[in-house]
Amino acid sequence: MKILVINGSPKAEASDTMHATRAFLAGMNEAAPQETEVIHLIDQRIGFCRGCFSCWKNEGKCIQNDDMRLILEKIPDFELLLFSFPLLCHGRPALLQLFYERMLPLSRVESEKFGEQYDHLDRMDFTRLRYLMICGLGFPVISHNAEPAIEQFKLAFPEDHTILMVPESPLFHSPELEAVTRPRLELIRQAGAQYGATGSIESTLTEAILSPMIPEEKYISMLPELIE
Ligand SMILES: Cc1cc2nc3c(=O)[nH]c(=O)nc-3n(C[C@H](O)[C@H](O)[C@H](O)COP(=O)(O)O)c2cc1C
Repeated sequence: MKILVINGSPKAEASDTMHATRAFLAGMNEAAPQETEVIHLIDQRIGFCRGCFSCWKNEGKCIQNDDMRLILEKIPDFELLLFSFPLLCHGRPALLQLFYERMLPLSRVESEKFGEQYDHLDRMDFTRLRYLMICGLGFPVISHNAEPAIEQFKLAFPEDHTILMVPESPLFHSPELEAVTRPRLELIRQAGAQYGATGSIESTLTEAILSPMIPEEKYISMLPELIE
């Protein structure tokens, strides 16, 4: 499968979430060899969407000639868009918001109601494309924290989406906590292997990955050390 990893963490390769993403991809590769390209959004020159709708008036051509042009051109070559990002202020990082807005040329002005949701029609046939979100959380729980990011992803990609939330993700960057993080990365690797083999992840596994690695109260008391 051809996979495009879109890394929305401003920390690029040093991202906590990317530890989970690399484990997931290792699992996918065990299921079947994958062809993966990673884009660190922080390293790209991507301007804000100007909201001019030129792309809708000019058959998908954006007025801005920046790195997004090449990315948009190659998206149809992929079968999986894997969005790897930290939860920031309960939602997706600004870098990723920018990316989503600049994806507008991939749709057309014409809209339809699909079920309960109005959406614009795709400019090309994207039916073979799947969408996966791996989101690292600083807090130990989703509730009253990550709901906006989950809802945004479902609304953006109502078709074939899979969501993997990874709480307490700052633990991944502490080598001395490897005894705690290794088993969790192993579960994430298993999730990748399942996804690579079947296209989905069993809910028991997703829930196991959602459970805190360190009990909530203890983890919260460790947070100041974790950002050292
Ligand atoms: C500006 C900012 C806002 C954040 N907001 C949240 C939040 O709303 N909820 C949460 O669980 N973690 C939040 N975090 C913590 C990050 O999600 C956490 O540090 C994560 O491990 C960073 O992942 P990364 O290294 O992949 O960027 C925030 C961090 C920053 C810097």
